[in-house]
Amino acid sequence: MINDLWYKNGVIYCLSVATFMDANGDGIGDFQGLIRRLDYLAGLGINTLWLLPFQPSPHRDDGYDISDHYGVDPRYGTLGDFVEFAQGAKQRGMRVIIDLVVNHTSDQHGWFTEARRDPDSKYRNWYVWSDSRPKNANRGMVFPGVQKSTWSRDKAARAWYFHRFYKFQPDLNTANPEVQAEILKIMGFWMQLGVSGFRMDAVPFVISSKGADVKKPKLDYDMLRNFREFLQWRDGDAIILAEANVLPHTDMHYFGDAGERLQMMFNFQVNQNLFYALASANARPLVKALDATKPRPATAQWGVFLRNHDELDLGRLTGKEREKVFDAFGPDKSMQLYDRGIRRRLAPMLGGDRRRIELAYSLMYTLPGTPVLRYGDELGMGDDLALPERNCARTPMQWSTEPNAGFTKSRKPVLPVIGDGPFGYREVNAAMQRRDPNSLLNWTERMIRMRKEVPEISWGDFSVIDARNDSVLIIRYDWRNNSVVIVHNLKDAAQEVKFAVGLKDPRGDLLVNLLSENHSRARNGRHHVSLEPYGYRWFRVGGLDYLLRRSEIDQTGR
Ligand code: NOJ
Repeated sequence: MINDLWYKNGVIYCLSVATFMDANGDGIGDFQGLIRRLDYLAGLGINTLWLLPFQPSPHRDDGYDISDHYGVDPRYGTLGDFVEFAQGAKQRGMRVIIDLVVNHTSDQHGWFTEARRDPDSKYRNWYVWSDSRPKNANRGMVFPGVQKSTWSRDKAARAWYFHRFYKFQPDLNTANPEVQAEILKIMGFWMQLGVSGFRMDAVPFVISSKGADVKKPKLDYDMLRNFREFLQWRDGDAIILAEANVLPHTDMHYFGDAGERLQMMFNFQVNQNLFYALASANARPLVKALDATKPRPATAQWGVFLRNHDELDLGRLTGKEREKVFDAFGPDKSMQLYDRGIRRRLAPMLGGDRRRIELAYSLMYTLPGTPVLRYGDELGMGDDLALPERNCARTPMQWSTEPNAGFTKSRKPVLPVIGDGPFGYREVNAAMQRRDPNSLLNWTERMIRMRKEVPEISWGDFSVIDARNDSVLIIRYDWRNNSVVIVHNLKDAAQEVKFAVGLKDPRGDLLVNLLSENHSRARNGRHHVSLEPYGYRWFRVGGLDYLLRRSEIDQTGR
């Protein structure tokens, strides 16, 4: 296959306009501020920006409660500003993907207002109603502890409406062909304005049957094929990246057996097990998750991430495993959320320990898929646990030591900037880290550069090499006559690991270190690699003439 699918070997950076940079001084980030920071983003080496929702919204769920899918919230600017931004990103070689939130709307959306007001309105059937309170109204809440039910009564409509998420987010009746047509229209609109695709919110709920009488919801996977066909008809290389925290046996339903549905999915299975591996210094469950999520069409790709704007959801781990992660990274009740996750940012979870932070990111950059980095994590930003729910990890970007971290000239930023302690902006900010060659920012830039030079991880097949040691993970990727071997020591202790690369080719006797001069030559076919506590190695098999050996087709000599 020709390797020009841009999402296969890039790095995605996720940000929210509201907390990135405020140019007009009202305390809220905006598109003009973001435009001024595009060179920072391009300099980091990322190839895709993922923008969280920025459409008009009452902001009761940080913008995931949209009240007009065809606009820009005036707090952030205008459609004109959006187009300037899209053009600025394009000029610098970066793609833009945006959130597509179509499982639900805000209760302030014009469609819902009409639907409530007039039973004969065409919008009535755009939502999901019941004349009486459904029996299962207290089941299926996504935010347990905060959300009380999944059905609420609307006085004006004199009926109950379904809401998978908060009460102010009525679910769209996505089985209705008119709603589906509108979803296509929304996609077409933003594509025309320069976006290359969508991070689709809550995909399993979008395709699920909904209604008071639905006992066992059915999933209409073919809806995804329609979305993809429309998308690629309009723009051949546009993609959808699915938020679908599902079990591995359903993954191929989302990708499609022949890759005819969604191009990308976040790998939640690997995410949760990666944190378990870090907490327990045991790679076995992570290897299991990697094996379980191995099948995917050649054109499809996983999104590999550590943290995002939500809680770290550990709901798929066993009770014991989850407790282990809680103990290690979020022991206090105030750090946990929704009975299933941790709401902190990565750096404080890892105690600010640079060795562990590098280990975690090295894993993120080298596990099968495309890495997705959250804004501020390249600096090791912290959280503010005094803020409610997920807001604690959504504080403004820390640019400099200037007041409010250089995010705004206003005295009242949209959320408080982290001011004190080891993660305060005087300690952690982009300006200082730019000048320090050893900073996490400069390390991240170097890792991203190297990651892009290792397409084997994105395109190749992986095999786990037996390390005979559960606290060491060794993965080999093979692609087009080249191989790389990546080693991670999950333990807080130095250890030596001995292994054979497992290729018939004698080139396997030389492993060239891609990040330092510490190379390895096999002794009797086995490499002996000494790893420092939480150490990692990125090795290329054979010499650095690998590019001269890369073939047009996949013919790796195993
Ligand atoms: C998933 C989003 O990531 C989350 O932030 C939001 O609250 C829900 N979907 C509802 O849109």
